[in-house]
Amino acid sequence: MTLQEYVANAERLERELAERLATIDPATRIDAVKGELRDWRAQLDQLQKSITTVPPDGRRDAGIALNRVRKRFDDAMHAREAAAPARTSDATADLTMPARHPWRGGRHPVTLVIREIEEIFRELGFTIALGPEAETEWYNFGSLNFPPDHPALDAHDTLYLGPGTLLRTHTSPVQVRTMQRWAPPIRILVPGNAYRRDFFDPSHAPMFSQIEGLSVDEGVSFVDLKATLTNFARRFFGTARTRFRPSFFPFTEPSAEMDAQCGVCGGSGCPTCKGTGWIEILGSGMVHPAVLDAAGIDSERYTGWAFGMGPARIALSRYAIPDIRLLYDSDVRFLEQIAR
Ligand code: DAH
Repeated sequence: MTLQEYVANAERLERELAERLATIDPATRIDAVKGELRDWRAQLDQLQKSITTVPPDGRRDAGIALNRVRKRFDDAMHAREAAAPARTSDATADLTMPARHPWRGGRHPVTLVIREIEEIFRELGFTIALGPEAETEWYNFGSLNFPPDHPALDAHDTLYLGPGTLLRTHTSPVQVRTMQRWAPPIRILVPGNAYRRDFFDPSHAPMFSQIEGLSVDEGVSFVDLKATLTNFARRFFGTARTRFRPSFFPFTEPSAEMDAQCGVCGGSGCPTCKGTGWIEILGSGMVHPAVLDAAGIDSERYTGWAFGMGPARIALSRYAIPDIRLLYDSDVRFLEQIAR
């Protein structure tokens, strides 16, 4: 573009601006004015870009012409802004209306429980480890000592993604992934989602959060398991009593489930604890040597203990919530009573 053409373009834009401004009602709000002139602004920006096509000895004058248009525009906008009616004189604003409450976000009850559990275990030297939710059959079952077609698989109504891959049915596969990556001593806490083909009922959800714990070192015994988990329960539930019951998991031997006294009824029996006075808190046990071997850890030298718990179930007893579905309905009227 020659200098002459460039200056002519700038002058044309300047004329066009004056014509268009004359047609816009002076009472129009500034953002609406700018909106109406958007295509004009685009032309101005385009003109600025095309300055590089002007021969170098003409660029200075081209720049002066461009800046004059730009200044016309800025001045016009400032003048309009100063003249625009103040918002309070807007006839539709009712100043006697109560102010609208600012919307404050809060953490979900299950997140609150997870954070609190993390904090207690962090003080005991545990770090957070994470793993994938789309998992292989081997990590989810095989490495954890589930024999193929074993009845224990029935408890895990699995959602398969394809041959050999699935949505993890528990956070336990992260035990193996962690042991493959790091040498003992290992102390990890694994919060995360797990999935099962379960019905949505008062105590089940097809997607739910779990927290896995794992401690592996030389000389670790069931004493460490019981002492640590009892300490945790005392910290988390206050004075609530706990009890251990023998149980079975393919990946632990021996296995135990820990119950805490029901927080809703205080142990006298109610629908939340199905009349027993106790709430199941977690499954636990000594890591099976086959699991250590599968992860490449010397099971002659090292031992470990592990646990898995459901923070949503724990939130039910902590906050005396009668139905797990309340936690997943996203009804703010319910959630805001607990969220912090
Ligand atoms: N993975 C088990 C489940 O989802 C829970 C569990 C039990 C985890 C015992 C453990 C454990 O680490 O030792 O049912």
